[in-house]
Amino acid sequence: MIAKTKSFRRRPIAIGNWKMHMTLAEATAAARQLSELLGDARLVEIVIAPTYTALQAVGEVLKGTGILLAAQNVHWDDQGAYTGEVSPIQLKDAGCRVVLIGHSERRTIFGETDEMVRRKLIAALREGLSAVVCVGETLEQRRTGQTAAVVRAQLEKGLADATNGLFDRLLIAYEPIWAIGTGQVATAAQISEVHALIRQHLAKILGPDSAEAIRVIYGGSVTPGNIADLAAIKDLDGVLVGGASLKPDGFAAIVKTLEKARTGPH
Ligand code: PGA
Repeated sequence: MIAKTKSFRRRPIAIGNWKMHMTLAEATAAARQLSELLGDARLVEIVIAPTYTALQAVGEVLKGTGILLAAQNVHWDDQGAYTGEVSPIQLKDAGCRVVLIGHSERRTIFGETDEMVRRKLIAALREGLSAVVCVGETLEQRRTGQTAAVVRAQLEKGLADATNGLFDRLLIAYEPIWAIGTGQVATAAQISEVHALIRQHLAKILGPDSAEAIRVIYGGSVTPGNIADLAAIKDLDGVLVGGASLKPDGFAAIVKTLEKARTGPH
């Protein structure tokens, strides 16, 4: 019997996370350069996450280019007495379409919990933002064989309110903490293994069709030098890029390679 195969294809995505880098002038200059380099890229969805103070100005530069604006964090309430926080409504107001949630730097440096991730995710989706939920293990957890359990627990708690209606704008980023900013990229086997378990969990909570539609991406020391190998990994729907996204030509090279992998023979 011939197995039923799905011709379904998820659009690859490249997200540049600029973290706490660049002044307003530097960020707008980088955005201008990116829109010149990538304004015609259509096969790959491109997202840039500048620091809060540059959101609106970068958004203005990116207007009409197809490159989407993202925030690096969000609060779960619409408004209130939360000094230093920014709400999903305010992010939308500033031009954001996408938000990162539960980045490992938020979790490890700022004590963000899975419960906070759960609340942020629901709030972001409810306001119409796309949400990139980041999960991943520490080096110690990988060494002691806990990777699957850690990622599963992060998904279980973070996506606890999952319902199909809301979750059509969800993306998952697998970012092993030991690979972030270290130059030590995960291997294809490591990425495939964790991506498979992420998709299994998504299928369990949302059903196989929704799980099939959700993009699962990788982050951690992605560079123009290793993107071709990463792009060849089956079931990898894109990348979340930190350091290498700070140089517009490097980030553009990453996008172009993803695009080429998508148009190449399969
Ligand atoms: P990196 O960061 O590409 O500098 O490793 C990735 C991330 O933190 O999202």
